Amino acid sequence: MNERWIEVGPFSPKAMSDSPISQHGANSGEAPPEASPQEQKQMEQAYAQMKRKMSMAEIGKKIKHKVMVLSGKGGVGKSTVSTGLALALAQQGLKVGILDIDITGPNVPKMMGLDGRRLHVESGRIHPAQGHLGVKVISMAFLLDNEDTPVVWRGPIKLGAIQQFIGDVEWGDLDYLIIDFPPGTSDEPLTVAQSLPDIDGMVIVTTPQDVALLDSRKSITFSESLKVPVLGVVENMSGYTINGKASPNSEVQIAGPAGKTLKANTDGEGNFSITIDIFKEGGGKSTAEEFGVPFLGALPFDPGFVRGGDDGVHRIVSEPEGPSAIAFGKVVAALQGQIVDGSGPGLEII
Ligand SMILES: Nc1ncnc2c1ncn2[C@@H]1O[C@H](COP(=O)(O)OP(=O)(O)O)[C@@H](O)[C@H]1O
Ligand SMILES: [Mg+2]
Repeated sequence: MNERWIEVGPFSPKAMSDSPISQHGANSGEAPPEASPQEQKQMEQAYAQMKRKMSMAEIGKKIKHKVMVLSGKGGVGKSTVSTGLALALAQQGLKVGILDIDITGPNVPKMMGLDGRRLHVESGRIHPAQGHLGVKVISMAFLLDNEDTPVVWRGPIKLGAIQQFIGDVEWGDLDYLIIDFPPGTSDEPLTVAQSLPDIDGMVIVTTPQDVALLDSRKSITFSESLKVPVLGVVENMSGYTINGKASPNSEVQIAGPAGKTLKANTDGEGNFSITIDIFKEGGGKSTAEEFGVPFLGALPFDPGFVRGGDDGVHRIVSEPEGPSAIAFGKVVAALQGQIVDGSGPGLEII
């Protein structure tokens, strides 16, 4: 309120008293002064902002569910999980979008086979690109001239861009919008939480190592300050699955880490599959339990994700029946359980 009065002051030379309110009262019988170019610009900005707010509310209604994906640390696989969740939901025939607002490492387009795409703008509205399985993608990367150029955006510009990415995008009707963030507890999640109505909640991605776990604890506390509930914790890179062949209907033994022997049974054709915990077992699950939030499941370490990131074909698309796609399917089922009625399988699922 104060700021407005200070700005208006100079255009009304008579109004130079300590009390802008009484001056305003004295002027009230006169015709309103013509708006100066500066005032006009402010009015236009306020109008654009109001239109955007209305559009955000409208968009909020057209998108049934909105899920934020966060992690304390970079490199834990947040974008891999965001794209995987989106694709696993799309596999169910749902209409899905991804909003990638990580300008520090916007690799979602790459994972979705949309590398090098530019934003398509028509009549002032931004149209998302369509990636694998028809998933709609909006990424900060579409604004970059060249992926090696670091983007240094000052706070307000960055936040303005995020609001634009929410309010000015023509998503159409969506069942799910997955929002991928930069690592850590920065301004971006707060801006999104304040701009987009009715966010269902956040998924926290962690790896089994201790450091990443410590950071995911921070993320859980962060959720409380945003007033966006934690839908659950996903443990990524939690084990490595070996598939092999041996004599049909027999037992196979494998030397695992820490001197542990792992056993598996082959099927009638001799195929077996066994998962080795590379780092530490159950870190994500114990963090979830400790904080009383659901554990949505674990995703295996799968070198195919790295290849998929490089060649633009996500693992879920290249191997829709593979172990990683199955693991994603379980995580998504647990997530949907949390979203639909809040009584999802939660802690029971591994
Ligand atoms: N489950 C996984 N198995 C193997 N590699 C993975 C897995 N998840 C992620 N990665 C790889 O780890 C790197 C970082 O993943 P990314 O999703 O970009 O992390 P973040 O978004 O958290 O920074 C990428 O090269 C990605 O392919
Ligand atoms: Mg990322």
